[in-house]
Amino acid sequence: MSKTVKLIHDNKEYELPVVTASTGEKAIDISTLLNKTGFITLDVGYANTGSCTSTITYMDGEKGILRYRGYPIEELAKNCNFVEVAFLLTNGHLPNEQERRRFSVQLNDHSLVHEDMRRFFDSFPHGAHPMGILASMVTAMRSFYPERYLEEEEISISTTRLISKVRTMAAMSYRISRGQNIVYPRPDLCYCGNFLNMMFDTPVKPYEIDPDIVRAVNIFWVLHADHEQNCSTSAVRMVGSARVNLYAAISAGISALWGPLHGGANQAVIEMLEEIHKTGESPKLYVNRAKDKNSTYRLMGFGHRVYKTYDPRAKIIKNMCHTLLKKLNRTDPLLDIAYEIEELVSKDDYFVSRNLYPNVDFYSGIILRAIGIPTNMFPVMFAIGRLPGWISQWREDSEDPNWRICRPRQIYLGDVEKKFIPINERG
Ligand code: SDX
Repeated sequence: MSKTVKLIHDNKEYELPVVTASTGEKAIDISTLLNKTGFITLDVGYANTGSCTSTITYMDGEKGILRYRGYPIEELAKNCNFVEVAFLLTNGHLPNEQERRRFSVQLNDHSLVHEDMRRFFDSFPHGAHPMGILASMVTAMRSFYPERYLEEEEISISTTRLISKVRTMAAMSYRISRGQNIVYPRPDLCYCGNFLNMMFDTPVKPYEIDPDIVRAVNIFWVLHADHEQNCSTSAVRMVGSARVNLYAAISAGISALWGPLHGGANQAVIEMLEEIHKTGESPKLYVNRAKDKNSTYRLMGFGHRVYKTYDPRAKIIKNMCHTLLKKLNRTDPLLDIAYEIEELVSKDDYFVSRNLYPNVDFYSGIILRAIGIPTNMFPVMFAIGRLPGWISQWREDSEDPNWRICRPRQIYLGDVEKKFIPINERG
């Protein structure tokens, strides 16, 4: 196999190197293209562009493969909890018992939020979206923790601080939004159990930690922990490439994830299913609306830039819906509607011909509803899960010897040059 590709234009020939991934995929390295040819490339939405090399997460969109640091997502979801996977992503290896214990203690040590930050929550208007609150609070963390990231220890503390405090802040924003007192983290509870207790414990009805629900939250966060160069991770890398602090880069990731085409889709899916349930309209109506070229309406929870087959995470989550509802002895009419939509889509050539399958967001809201998480907090649950991925990607970028600030180019289509006209001569 040739190690270069030839570009021929106007009888001139240019050679560009071919790079090969450890998993065999090939790419054309165009980092010398402008110098060699005077040309840049154009790839709106970067569907054909690799922004970096990475050793963190591997996806095969054709085969529906997802691996963190080489481990298949199915193995990690079955055998690990979220803390172990967060350690894997941010440290590059699965923790041994001693490392796991030390990481858990560090997460507990950093689980409290500075009391002065408590007042910030009161300044948001009632009904403020939790993702907007979270993005602001994470940026504000920089004011309380002005590290310099010069030492490994500082990066490790900032990593642990973010993974632990973002979970606490999410629970705080929920409690304050409901006019309830804050429940503080408890050192005797695990990471997920602490979150649930901080969300739902009340003096009149102490929250009973259900191991089935703790397991479901662990798997949910494991499945959301990283996903190579998606929109929000690219935002973290892009903002981080200016050498801004970690908190500002993570806040950019939270803002990108908020979008309904990205992490906000899990909220949009449930809102769609609730609307169908409430109106009694046929799901077929929504499927057809999504096919209408004159409509911008999309069938939320379907399609993916990389997966051209079933999202491996959606498979696991779909099974979890059934298992969790059965264990909790509950049913959810929205799940039946979701099954019906998937059935309709699977037989519809519009979707089949475009390889549009359920993605991670289609069934995930059913799990969160069963746990009692409010719909507008679904993207926050996604963000808590994605934190270890964002942090590991930020760190990989910041430690890349070939690091450069991200600054894409453009193809200009505006006016070539105009003669300036003084205001008194303008029509
Ligand atoms: C996440 O990148 C990641 O890894 C993201 C993520 C992660 O873990 O970080 O996996 C999480 O964001 C999952 C995606 C959640 N978003 C949604 O469920 C929103 C609905 N999905 C779509 O908007 C869309 O599928 C995207 C945004 C997910 C992907 O968009 P692309 O890759 O730009 O696809 P496209 O718009 O070019 O679509 C190709 C064709 C188009 O039709 P034609 O122009 O060929 O006629 O498929 C159609 C689109 O109109 N299409 C859909 C559709 N998704 C694509 N038509 C109806 N409903 C949809 N959901």
